[in-house]
Amino acid sequence: MIKKGIILAGGYGTRMSPLTKAVNKQLLPIYDKPLIFYPLSVLMLAGIKEILVIVNKGQLYQFKKVLEDGSRFGVKIKYIEQKTPKGLPDAFILGEKFIGKDNIALILGDNFFYAQSLTKKLKDCIKLSSGCKVLLHPVNSPELYGVALLNKNRKVIKLKEKPKGSKSNLAVTGLYFFDNRVINYSKSLKPSKRNELEIIDLLNKYKNQNKLKAEFLGRGGAWLDTGSISDFYNTSSFVSALENRQGLKIACLEEIAFNNGWIKKNQILNAIKFYGNCLYSQYLKKILKQ
Ligand code: G1P
Repeated sequence: MIKKGIILAGGYGTRMSPLTKAVNKQLLPIYDKPLIFYPLSVLMLAGIKEILVIVNKGQLYQFKKVLEDGSRFGVKIKYIEQKTPKGLPDAFILGEKFIGKDNIALILGDNFFYAQSLTKKLKDCIKLSSGCKVLLHPVNSPELYGVALLNKNRKVIKLKEKPKGSKSNLAVTGLYFFDNRVINYSKSLKPSKRNELEIIDLLNKYKNQNKLKAEFLGRGGAWLDTGSISDFYNTSSFVSALENRQGLKIACLEEIAFNNGWIKKNQILNAIKFYGNCLYSQYLKKILKQ
């Protein structure tokens, strides 16, 4: 069972400069809330309450201003500053103390997921007791991602980072579930040609032991990118279209916490004070009336 999760929210977002000169990419808006609300909501939907957010050195105060210690939405957030980005598996080396003897989920701070039955899928994933689990989803440009090749029985037979001319269109999304071996495996990795520890090398260690399982987001689901400015706008449009049509917010942290039984109505009232007079608060008021 996985009870802890890490959000990797470092990186300099250089492709999005000058937007990212003063503000970390994960705090820029996806429609009506900061990007980091979306991956955080995924961990919360999974039922994970102990969360470590890894941020760039010098940007910690930006995250604390909006997320605080997590109690506003019923979770416990700890932070670690990363001096320089060294690749995704560095999260498990930096987070060693936080992880302790437990198993762990990792979500990338810029990943957006939306799918029917997502909560059920996530709850299945956190049941993991040994090995690792990844979530796969088709993409048009597999050369931009880690890619999995499956055999006829939908078992992963090959994993490659940003392959050219791949036979598979199944990307390894930025949501991973690991047993505690992940700490030692990460420590044993060597930097790649681009001088980073690679998540695919880490996953291959599990695969070689026959300990890697794949789950699928499913055809009706969306895994969207926030890597470039146009991706930001496309993802914002997606959220705007759904929220305005349905009157239901995606990634409203207080709503998820309330539905999970983690906070009471008076904490929603406090959240309304915290956010001030805005559409997000109006939505919280609607929840109070229900
Ligand atoms: C990273 C991983 C890649 C994964 C992707 C998901 O890519 O290395 O395997 O598919 O995140 O967002 P990067 O963001 O470093 O290009």
